[in-house]
Amino acid sequence: TSVNDSLAAVLAAHPPAPGALLPLLHALQDTLGHVPPESVPVIAEHLNLSRAEVHGVVSYYHFFRQAPAGRTVLQVCRAEACQSRGADRLLAHAEQRLGCASHSTRADGAVTVEPIYCLGLCASSPALMLNERVHARMTAAKLDALLEKEGL
Ligand code: FES
Repeated sequence: TSVNDSLAAVLAAHPPAPGALLPLLHALQDTLGHVPPESVPVIAEHLNLSRAEVHGVVSYYHFFRQAPAGRTVLQVCRAEACQSRGADRLLAHAEQRLGCASHSTRADGAVTVEPIYCLGLCASSPALMLNERVHARMTAAKLDALLEKEGL
């Protein structure tokens, strides 16, 4: 399958070495959009690590997805500057409007909601990223308008 082909290519490009795990996981997510749970034992064996070590890293870093993302990906910044300017309320608004909790993908596959940690727009917070495009000085109303354009 293409998952196995992609995994094999990523493994080949990341020979066992100290510190190889994170770059390997980044490369896999770049290729597949997520890090499939079935790849964990294969990666562990390749790098001579335990499955628990690999799984621990994948689940520790919010950045890594363990399942494919929805068609639209909304990432709300939850780092300090945005927190202090209403990021929590913005995220709660998004979760409620979309019927999708943070860190998850809606059952119909339409949308994934995720936290993200600093988009470099702290001076114009709160900020978020919608399908890889950043938006600053966000309000619930502005977010609603963006989501409407996505049919959400
Ligand atoms: Fe949100 Fe920096 S803290 S953009």
